[in-house]
Amino acid sequence: MNDAFYITTPIYYVNAKPHLGHAYTTIIADIISRFYKINERETFFLTGTDEHGDKIVKAAEKEGLEVKEYVDNISGIYKKLWPQLNIGYDRFIRTTDSGHIKIVRDILEKIYNKGDIYFNEYKGKYCFGCERFYTEKELVNGKCPDHEIEPTTIKEANYFFKMSAYQDWLIDHIKKNPNFITPSRYANEVLSFLKEPLEDLCISRPKARLTWGITLPFDENYVTYVWFDALLNYITSIGYPEGELFKKFWKNSNHIIAKDILKPHGIYWPIMLKAADIPIYQSLNVHGYWNVDKSKMSKTIGNIIDPLALKEKYGLDAIRYFLAKEMVFGLDSSFSEEAIIKRINSDLANDLGNLFSRVVSMAHKYLDGVVPGRPSEELIKEIAEMKEIAGFTVSEYEKHMINFSFNKALDAVWKLISNLNKQINDYAPWELAKDKSKKDMLEALMYGFLESLRIIAGILYPIMPDTSLIMRKHLGLADRENLFNSDSLKIWGKLPPQTKLMPAVTLFPRIKI
Ligand code: ME8
Ligand code: MG
Repeated sequence: MNDAFYITTPIYYVNAKPHLGHAYTTIIADIISRFYKINERETFFLTGTDEHGDKIVKAAEKEGLEVKEYVDNISGIYKKLWPQLNIGYDRFIRTTDSGHIKIVRDILEKIYNKGDIYFNEYKGKYCFGCERFYTEKELVNGKCPDHEIEPTTIKEANYFFKMSAYQDWLIDHIKKNPNFITPSRYANEVLSFLKEPLEDLCISRPKARLTWGITLPFDENYVTYVWFDALLNYITSIGYPEGELFKKFWKNSNHIIAKDILKPHGIYWPIMLKAADIPIYQSLNVHGYWNVDKSKMSKTIGNIIDPLALKEKYGLDAIRYFLAKEMVFGLDSSFSEEAIIKRINSDLANDLGNLFSRVVSMAHKYLDGVVPGRPSEELIKEIAEMKEIAGFTVSEYEKHMINFSFNKALDAVWKLISNLNKQINDYAPWELAKDKSKKDMLEALMYGFLESLRIIAGILYPIMPDTSLIMRKHLGLADRENLFNSDSLKIWGKLPPQTKLMPAVTLFPRIKI
């Protein structure tokens, strides 16, 4: 694992405030970014806001604000929210940034000059919510399946992007690159869509009905379709075409989205890149929906959960843990506060929290709060076993993190935690402490438990950064960053003997129900 790593979230529409669905994707991106950073890979994490198009104008009108004032406000809310969820992005892009606008125009010009954009009269059914035309086949009972309203018939002359010319190329690309769209069900979904002839994409909107967009470089009576503008954020924000970041990161670009925007990302975007002679992104990673009472959490439906309110109530790391653990990446998951409380009480308070406070308080009681010497592996078979299990856990964890299987990565860590809790019960250090002849055994076991906690603190960092830091601090390792990179976590015995521990602490108080 050496080359640079680029991770992106969708850029979110500014027609409403962020909710837990947006927080999920962005927290997952942060988890991945932190994971690669502790692997000492150069990592760039991009998020931002999508600010053009008709529905943004409508949202601003509804609030009685100038569009610019409105988008500045909501974009600012997103930008301020992420650090409060410990999301450490490297860049926040806004599609109203002048640098972005210039590059979008350059790329439109390039594709136009190549002959892949043409002008045509068109009549079709348009959904204003989706900001796109629908074919009859895509409609369900004559209605847009997303917004459940009948689209409006619109007739106008527009510019079209010749996607049809690239259909065979895209099918081939998806088939040849099994990790291009994951999980594979979504690659199959795109392929099955591509069984039908691909229609060319209408990429302009006449200024007569929409001015809030990027003016086409080759016809100033039109602005470009919001998706054509938005998708390009992934390269404008890292300095396409000549920027250092673009050169370094684009070749290993990994997008995260939910399945609602699979089509633009799985079809329009690779074809846009191909038409503009830009290398295709590396991977598209698609997750399912957080549902509330069986419907998708969405601003349109109004069943939204405020991530900050959850943080206030349950604590940030509990929420980050819950999101990573409770959703199988790719499938839908249902959200409820009962489920959060269950996770907090059993996984966090009972398993992890108990283990941590038990081990640290025993170290104070029996070892004067100081890490004992490194036991020789020959001394007791238990230490060899602990070492082996910890090593196995780290490699399982890494394998699953790389595959976006966060729940499985956590399962592996929790197996280790349960195992340690069981060993404590089995070996009963409090009994060993009564017998002076068992001192070596007691010290060896305690070293093993404390060293296992170092490893757990390290591998939990991407998912629960605050908890990880508290654990390190109480293990007396607050300034020992070098003990927590991925290489050090793979090596048993790095915990320095004689380290002075801080008092035991309750990591997660139980929630009373
Ligand atoms: O589509 N469950 O923006 P958007 C899980 N601007 N994730 C959810 C979710 C839910 N219930 N609801 C939203 C757009 N999301 C475009 C993107 S990208 C070039 C342009 C998350 O504000 C998920 O990541 O509608 C989903 O794909 C995204 O928010 C849609 O955000
Ligand atoms: Mg949406």
